[in-house]
Amino acid sequence: MDLYSIALFAHIVGAVLVFVLLTVEGLGLRFGFAYAPLNRILGPISAVAILIPGIYMMAVQWGWAGWVVVGITTYVLIAAIGAYTGINVMRGRINRQAAIASWLVRIGMALGVLFDMTVKPNLFISAGVVLVVAVIAGGSGLVLRRQVAS
Ligand code: HEM
Repeated sequence: MDLYSIALFAHIVGAVLVFVLLTVEGLGLRFGFAYAPLNRILGPISAVAILIPGIYMMAVQWGWAGWVVVGITTYVLIAAIGAYTGINVMRGRINRQAAIASWLVRIGMALGVLFDMTVKPNLFISAGVVLVVAVIAGGSGLVLRRQVAS
């Protein structure tokens, strides 16, 4: 047991929380309850648990590896798009379909980062994986909507 393995544990707890946050959001969108108050508490806890150990592990072992750069960029985008969507849902300024599309794309982005963090490919493959999985996840919403409509 060393500081690095404790940091990795905390980081993975933060990553699990990202998927908990997305699950709560999905349930909120499906059943129409206000998920933002819970996510305003869990979101910052997840961010601290991901970023502090993540930056530490990066500093002591990995540096600016391609998959780390893509991980940081994608994580910032997930947080920013999530906050933007959540605020607009609360204010009634976004329709349910757009909110679901945003949710699906962020699930794809988070899955892409999960792949990059475990497989650790180079910058281009890391970015490509996030892009492809986000497009597939977002596109699955359109396919499902057509199937439900027909
Ligand atoms: C959605 C966001 C993220 C998720 C889901 C995630 C998930 C993970 C997971 C599951 C691992 C363990 C991989 C393994 O042990 O094989 C890991 C490792 C790592 N993550 Fe992240 N991560 C995210 C964001 C970040 C960010 C923003 C940073 C940098 C600040 C970062 C830096 C690292 C580093 C350096 C490791 C390497 C640990 C190792 O393999 O020894 N991660 N991440």
